[in-house]
Amino acid sequence: MKTKICIPITAKTTSQASAELKEAEKLTDLVELRIDYINGINEENLEKLLINKKGKVIITNRIKSENGKFKGSEKERMGLLKKAIELNADYIDIESSAGKEAINELIKIKNKTKIISSYHNFKETPSLKELEEIYNKIKELNPDLIKIVTFANSINDNFEIFKLLKNKNDLVSFCMGLRGQMSRILASKYGSCITFASLKKDKESAPGQISIEEMDDVYNASLIKPETKVLGVIGEFAENSKSKYMHNKGFKQKKLDFVYLPFKVKKEELKEFMENFRKLEFAGGAVTVPHKTGIINYLDEVDDTADKIGAVNTFINKGGRLIGYNTDYYGAVQALKEKTGLNGKKVLIIGAGGAARAVVYGLKKEDAEITIANRTSGKAEKLAKEFKVGFKEIKNMKELIAGNDIIINTTSVGMHPRPDDAVIKEDDLSEKLVMDIVSAPIITKLIRLAKKNNCDVITGDRMLVHQAIGQFRLWTGKEPDFKIMEKALLDNIER
Ligand code: ATR
Repeated sequence: MKTKICIPITAKTTSQASAELKEAEKLTDLVELRIDYINGINEENLEKLLINKKGKVIITNRIKSENGKFKGSEKERMGLLKKAIELNADYIDIESSAGKEAINELIKIKNKTKIISSYHNFKETPSLKELEEIYNKIKELNPDLIKIVTFANSINDNFEIFKLLKNKNDLVSFCMGLRGQMSRILASKYGSCITFASLKKDKESAPGQISIEEMDDVYNASLIKPETKVLGVIGEFAENSKSKYMHNKGFKQKKLDFVYLPFKVKKEELKEFMENFRKLEFAGGAVTVPHKTGIINYLDEVDDTADKIGAVNTFINKGGRLIGYNTDYYGAVQALKEKTGLNGKKVLIIGAGGAARAVVYGLKKEDAEITIANRTSGKAEKLAKEFKVGFKEIKNMKELIAGNDIIINTTSVGMHPRPDDAVIKEDDLSEKLVMDIVSAPIITKLIRLAKKNNCDVITGDRMLVHQAIGQFRLWTGKEPDFKIMEKALLDNIER
């Protein structure tokens, strides 16, 4: 069965539900009417709703203890489900906890309606063994479809669900919560019969539900199939990464069968995540804070450049061997080259962290004359020694800046949630080329100050798009369409 994307309707009135049903039917061919959300729902209103349906409909009437909103008696609840069968609803959903007797009652009269028997766990994802037991227990009740939905407390919970889905053709299964989103997106890769997507951003019927617009426009979800290659960005706050917009647009435009997702992975989850990554033969990854160095422990090889930089922002799975690369340095250099040549240019690099290392490496290759300065001087001095470039203490920033042509901020200063910070003061700058690698927001305080002082500027999106181009080439071996990826980024970035 090809995975269907189902839009739940959570309107509070019959007329609103009817309007939303019409809207949803334009976007997908399966809609779930959460009749427990509808105030004063009765058989008459249910009939009004079902009589005009165009596509397939699931009728769900959840009680409070199952996180639903139905306030009536169990008899009334069952009565509405029976009425839905009488009205030829395509599916009805009944919790497995309703018991064998209740489910049998519905099965007996079901006619063409398919019965979904569901299990929800809003707290956690049980182990695979427990999930298999739950599946087998529900199977004994003889429903047409079994729905097992759990809460992901860790990204690794998704993999339990993928394993559970294996070799089953009557199962709807995914994880709720922000950390479970990957199982909603990859439902059609791993064989969940249905995945759910909200009609709009604020109309979710469960935590972590993604809007239908995002499913289609960002993840090309209806194109995902078992063979689709999976890529993603591994980061503690990967959900904030903008790269999903760029890469998925790029894949679609080049008709490449890849999907790129955020992998929200904490430091302590990385080991298990990478084991799962290998087991499921994902195609590769992007790496962001705080894993750019830690990831190296889980790769088989690191190319020479990434090794020198000491950080990996990209890796590919080459027949089971994971190989690390760094395209940040390339991104920084390309961003600068849009404005200027670099040979012999005097460049002040502020910061001495991982990002600074990539920028220093790239600029050194271009024969720029580099000076590193950092809040913690010792770190800048050490980095300068390692790369055999200049170092200065930050005593007088204005003087430091005056002796250079190009100023680059590689620190996180100015990034959300502190957009009013900058590494320099109002009158430190004049007529330089100023580059900020911070891209959220895109117009940082540094960029604003620079513009005010007649400087030419390079905003953080430039490095972001160029490093992504480098990644795209590594993963796919194809040349991406720069303009398409650039637009996808700019359309989704805060100004
Ligand atoms: P990344 O990998 O993103 O470069 P990092 O390795 O933690 O992250 O480095 C962060 C850089 O931003 C460092 O140079 C840090 O300065 P310190 O070495 O003094 O910590 C710099 N940084 C962070 N917050 C800063 C602030 N408020 N003022 C000045 N520099 C700051």
